[in-house]
Amino acid sequence: MPTPVVLDCDPGHDDAIAILLAAGAPEIDLRAITTVAANQTLDKVTLNAQRICSAAGIDVPIARGCARPLVRPLYVAEDVHGESGMDGPSFGPPSVAVVEEHAIDLMHRHMPATLVATGALTNVALYLQRYGSAGVREIVLMGGSTERGNTTPYAEFNIYVDPEAAAVVFESGVPVTMIGLNVTHQALVTPSVVARLEALGPLGQMCEELMTFFAATYREVFGFEAPPLHDPVAVARVIDPSLVTCVEAFVGIETAGIFTRGATVVDLHGRLNQPPNARVAVGLDVDRFFDRVVDAVSRLT
Ligand code: BDR
Ligand code: CA
Repeated sequence: MPTPVVLDCDPGHDDAIAILLAAGAPEIDLRAITTVAANQTLDKVTLNAQRICSAAGIDVPIARGCARPLVRPLYVAEDVHGESGMDGPSFGPPSVAVVEEHAIDLMHRHMPATLVATGALTNVALYLQRYGSAGVREIVLMGGSTERGNTTPYAEFNIYVDPEAAAVVFESGVPVTMIGLNVTHQALVTPSVVARLEALGPLGQMCEELMTFFAATYREVFGFEAPPLHDPVAVARVIDPSLVTCVEAFVGIETAGIFTRGATVVDLHGRLNQPPNARVAVGLDVDRFFDRVVDAVSRLT
């Protein structure tokens, strides 16, 4: 039986591929897509979700969620994802609409399901506050790191944008799996992966255009030779847990630090004497992961 999934995202170049992976993998029953402001404003990321679903013929409800974090102003990643949040390809008007329902209500109608979160955790926290944990089988999120950050020295972007929401999620008691930079930085979209995608036809060519823009900003901002496909790794963990190795650990979210706001304090050696509250990704089967990404795009083509 495919796993029912609601994907909460902020497309975003890597979110776009996460949508394609979730929609194209036979192991996943993608029930709904919800959007949250983070990589760009809510209007922009929602339009981007519509664009990807239109391009790939993905027919699932899309609903808008929170336009700003729980308590802080919005901080966007224009330096990495561009002015539209998904710069690179040119898109016509989308052919799929957005449902007139808040993201958390749409999520609730599609429970029980696994919640895959690839943006700031604002919608997920609001869901837990409004509806509790009932029906949420697991939250698999891209965010944080066992090591250093990418937005500040210690904070990864999704957690940095809304650390209070992240704290709600990690303290919720719902099974949480954290896919952090320590593994997603292994998922580098090399030219050979891009070539495999491009060979698949128009949808693959759209992926190529997305990855070309993403590669340029990752080179410029971070000095990477190839861009990391963060968000699809969270989807991959749901498709086949053996793709992503995890360990149980306590994860604290820094909400009050002077220099460390949004840091994920991952206690890999049990030094804080806290019970584990998350499964934390520590390894990725990179080749099998990219095989699954290419396979999913080929199924949607
Ligand atoms: C995360 O931040 C966003 O820019 C990406 O889409 C990904 O979800 C990586 O830190
Ligand atoms: Ca994202």
